[in-house]
Amino acid sequence: MKPGILGIGDALPPRVVTNADLVGELDTSDEWIVRRTGIRERHWLQGDETLADLATSACAAALRDAGKEPGDVDHVIIATITPDQLTPGLAPAVAAKLGAEHAGVVDLNAACAGFLYGLDHAAALVESGRARHVLVVGAEALSRITDHEDRSTAVLFGDGAGAALVGPISEGVGIAGFEFGYDAELAPLLYAERERPLLRMAGQEVYRHAVARMTEASERLLERLGLDATSIDYFVPHQANARIVIAVADALDVPHERVSFNVELTANTSAASIPLGLAAAQRDGRLPAGALVAMVAFGAGFVWGAGVSSWKDGAAIDKRGKAQKVKTRST
Ligand code: ACO
Repeated sequence: MKPGILGIGDALPPRVVTNADLVGELDTSDEWIVRRTGIRERHWLQGDETLADLATSACAAALRDAGKEPGDVDHVIIATITPDQLTPGLAPAVAAKLGAEHAGVVDLNAACAGFLYGLDHAAALVESGRARHVLVVGAEALSRITDHEDRSTAVLFGDGAGAALVGPISEGVGIAGFEFGYDAELAPLLYAERERPLLRMAGQEVYRHAVARMTEASERLLERLGLDATSIDYFVPHQANARIVIAVADALDVPHERVSFNVELTANTSAASIPLGLAAAQRDGRLPAGALVAMVAFGAGFVWGAGVSSWKDGAAIDKRGKAQKVKTRST
């Protein structure tokens, strides 16, 4: 069966933390944060709010968007580096809260690239016939592992959850392919220790590698699929920094009007970043059915990945003749 994205949903905690809120706590300014990162505000969980509840809301929205029920879900795959507890993972709690009674449940950790790994796994399950509907979730509470006294990272991170329902489609290219990579030697540039779980980042070096790897991975994938930037209707790079998004889009020649700039309102939400960007784009009318979407992410590990998928019903893409251009979905 050909796998595609059938529905998308997202959820952000009610508490909004603006740059102005941080200026009182840190030696920083709204002007610096906006100029260097593009971020204006972020959402943080507070009190006894849980990431499981947030992820469940995103999943429920994705099911509604797809016109499916919790009982239709065969697997829940959650990409996160910040589950509510060290163990168990988020997926069992989310499936139970959702009412997905017969689902397989698993968390995975590929940092900011986690959602793309989840999509790849889900596509393989659907394509092989081992599952029919798989919820792929990116959910993070990065405010829990942020050093709120370190101005170089405290302004960068937010909490949020996004979910996509993957299932069989009858027309269009569907989930077309992925390109993944890693460089473990550079892990010391971005990490959080178990003993003191706070994100530490060599910002400038991470920036440089992020731009290079996201560009390369996207180029390789587009070439393998027989596509170029003109084929891409919408581009969702991991939302870490607006300058990184612009640098990658420019290197690939994707016009800015076809690029997600969700970081302004969410900050960096790691694995949640891409599904949050997809959900926002659909809400804003920038993702019509059949659109060809490119996604790319880079984060701790370093681990990175790029993916291409058509959006929902592929009929529109066939009409424009783009489906024929995509060669294969295998990696
Ligand atoms: N407010 C004011 N000044 C600041 C702040 C702040 N919040 N933070 C740093 N500065 C200062 C620094 O101290 C430095 O001052 P100095 O020149 O007197 O030494 C100056 O600003 C410049 O600092 P840089 O670190 O060089 O700033 P840069 O422009 O590189 O921006 C940033 C830093 C935003 C972290 C950028 O490097 C970046 O985005 N890096 C990549 C992040 C990324 O891609 N992460 C992806 C994976 S992480 C994940 O997703 C979980």
